[in-house]
Amino acid sequence: MIKDGIILVTGGSRGIGAASAIMLAERGHRVVVTDIKPERPTDAPASVIVWPDCFDVAREDIVSAGVEAIEKTHGPITGLVNAAGVFGKMHSLDRIRMENWDREVNIDLRGTFLVARTVGVRMAARKHGAIVNVASVAGMTSGPIHAYTAAKAGVIQLTLSMAGEWGRAGVRVNAVSPGFTRTVALQAGIDSGAMSEERLTRNAAMGRLVQPSEVAEAIVWLLSPMSSAITGVNLPVDAGFLAGSTWDSYWGLPNSDGKIHGKTR
Ligand SMILES: NC(=O)c1ccc[n+]([C@@H]2O[C@H](COP(=O)([O-])OP(=O)(O)OC[C@H]3O[C@@H](n4cnc5c(N)ncnc54)[C@H](O)[C@@H]3O)[C@@H](O)[C@H]2O)c1
Repeated sequence: MIKDGIILVTGGSRGIGAASAIMLAERGHRVVVTDIKPERPTDAPASVIVWPDCFDVAREDIVSAGVEAIEKTHGPITGLVNAAGVFGKMHSLDRIRMENWDREVNIDLRGTFLVARTVGVRMAARKHGAIVNVASVAGMTSGPIHAYTAAKAGVIQLTLSMAGEWGRAGVRVNAVSPGFTRTVALQAGIDSGAMSEERLTRNAAMGRLVQPSEVAEAIVWLLSPMSSAITGVNLPVDAGFLAGSTWDSYWGLPNSDGKIHGKTR
């Protein structure tokens, strides 16, 4: 494990960022979480440091000054989890409002780039570091969340080009692409009836949502020397969403008993 410096987690107050910060801290890392709304993640060990200032990943001035101040206060960043993000709003193409487009692309793509570049340049100068960008299966598929899918496809592409840029400088850059993940925010959407768990899971080969801790496990592994020869990859953590999505065009996904829609094949 990279235990000689700190691990910076953006969007670490909640969700996948929070789950990653907690897991990293429990495994002995020094973790600093940042967020646009800084809060101690629920159930975080006392060792997790919450950076108290607003850290809006879409703001270049805030990211530059923030990264400098964090390193000055807590030491060099040797691992970065780029988890800050906002979900896409569902719209038909003709109804997309450009302020929504700009917000999603600014946070999900531009923000991921800004933080990865600012931290990665410092890691490359020190010849050491690992970055994990949180993309999405939405960046590899089609859906009525047009800005979000484009932004996440951009994150996957950026991961590849950053891996090429900094490979010889000792910095690895990888992405994880979660499928639908049962964060507090997603669960609230299900509970309110705005989202349907059946719909969210029907195309996943494993027939279920992903847990935030399952995404965190992949992130922790990609930051660790266990993945020392891996850079530029995009690892889906999706309970088989990508594997299962096309089966509905054929005969559908089989249940645990091998039957499809209650019938033997
Ligand atoms: N939950 C899912 O189903 C799912 C699936 C695929 C990908 N993702 C991606 O995972 C990442 C984390 O999402 P999550 O589900 O944990 O969401 P979440 O809403 O639970 O957490 C996101 C965190 O990012 C913070 N944030 C939002 N805008 C920010 C900004 N401009 N600067 C800094 N922080 C900001 C929020 O305050 C929040 O704490 C996102 O990039 C999201 O696109 C989530």
